[in-house]
Amino acid sequence: MGTYSNTAVWVDGLVVIGGFTVLFYFLKFSWKCWWGLRVYVLSEYWKTDLRTYGQWAVVTGATSGIGKAYANELAKRGLDIVLVSRSEEKLKATALDIERQYGRQTCVIQADFTEGHAIYPIIAEKLQNLDIGILVNNVGMTYSPGLAYYMDIPNPGMRITEIINCNILSVAQMTRLVLPHMVERSKGLIINISSEAGSEPQPMLTLYSATKIFVTYFSRGLNAEYSPKGVTVQCVAPFLVSTNMTNNRTINAFVKSAQDFAYEALNTVGHSTFTSGCLSHALQHIALCIFFPGWLRLSSSCVRKTEKFARRAQQKIGRTGKKEN
Ligand SMILES: NC(=O)c1ccc[n+]([C@@H]2O[C@H](COP(=O)([O-])OP(=O)(O)OC[C@H]3O[C@@H](n4cnc5c(N)ncnc54)[C@H](OP(=O)(O)O)[C@@H]3O)[C@@H](O)[C@H]2O)c1
Ligand SMILES: *[C@@H]1O[C@H](CO)[C@@H](O)[C@H](O)[C@H]1NC(C)=O
Ligand SMILES: *[C@@H]1O[C@H](CO)[C@@H](O)[C@H](O)[C@H]1NC(C)=O
Ligand SMILES: *[C@@H]1O[C@H](CO)[C@@H](O)[C@H](O)[C@H]1NC(C)=O
Repeated sequence: MGTYSNTAVWVDGLVVIGGFTVLFYFLKFSWKCWWGLRVYVLSEYWKTDLRTYGQWAVVTGATSGIGKAYANELAKRGLDIVLVSRSEEKLKATALDIERQYGRQTCVIQADFTEGHAIYPIIAEKLQNLDIGILVNNVGMTYSPGLAYYMDIPNPGMRITEIINCNILSVAQMTRLVLPHMVERSKGLIINISSEAGSEPQPMLTLYSATKIFVTYFSRGLNAEYSPKGVTVQCVAPFLVSTNMTNNRTINAFVKSAQDFAYEALNTVGHSTFTSGCLSHALQHIALCIFFPGWLRLSSSCVRKTEKFARRAQQKIGRTGKKEN
């Protein structure tokens, strides 16, 4: 009899604990779904008015791919655009396009971010008298071939410095240039384009992946420092977007066009400070975290597979390249 009631108490206890656990996970799951819905779906109807941040938006790497798409979308939403990139010709063409299509003012700054610290005084001078509300730190490069062992980067002595200058120094320096004005007016938005490749260490893309986690940490730390002062720092970590960097990959459910990506990512402003940018990429991020965790990516068998994959991709590019010539 005594044993029976003891067991009953135990069972009741377990039922209560089990019930709370189920309730907890149910609430957590519901909250995540609601959050995702708000950030990626409802944000289309609750857009933040980007003009409230200021008159001008600065976009680095603005003449192609994701940067160009951001510049166009920001102009469409009523901002004047400062374009910063390497090629004077492409800058002029992109600026003219924006002026014609959206009737906004533009200003172009020719700079090569691989050159390091020498370029920033020149950029600072050009930005001096502009009311800058938004900075998009987009410029970034990877090495070709895309996947390679660290010591197989072509011309490593120069290339390593260039990549660090372009992907890391540009973010830190450009932020320094615009932040004082933003803090003074207690409003501003800084968007950093990181990458899914920066969410876990990525063998054979090691340097690129490491530069992107810098961007992520920098953004998150900076957001904590400056959001009480009115400046929002958002970090966007996309998966695949069809651009020159990704060899103009075919667009499908997984791969976004740059325009669609910039549109969706700009809708998430004000709703999230750390985002994949769009629903498709957020779902891929969740799937990857579950089915392809960090320890698996770093395993030696996986590195071997990546190497084989890289070799095949390289041969394919080589073949199509020859056909074009
Ligand atoms: N595409 C993707 O799937 C993907 C995924 C995750 C993250 N990202 C990130 O998104 C960002 C943009 O990538 P994207 O795919 O749009 O690249 P992209 O199409 O190659 O465009 C790069 C842009 O940056 C400029 N640029 C490149 N090197 C420069 C330099 N040294 N100095 C000044 N400007 C320079 C280019 O202008 P010029 O041609 O005039 O040099 C161009 O406007 C990068 O930070 C990348 O890491 C891309
Ligand atoms: C992101 O934004 C922060 C905030 O200003 C900035 O400090 C940082 O350099 C930017 N870039 C990256 C890659 O995080
Ligand atoms: C694409 O990238 C290649 C190699 O990085 C570069 O030479 C070419 O100018 C780029 N094309 C465009 C349209 O950006
Ligand atoms: C991608 O497309 C653009 C424009 O259509 C072209 O200029 C560029 O050379 C292409 N890049 C690659 C790597 O095929």
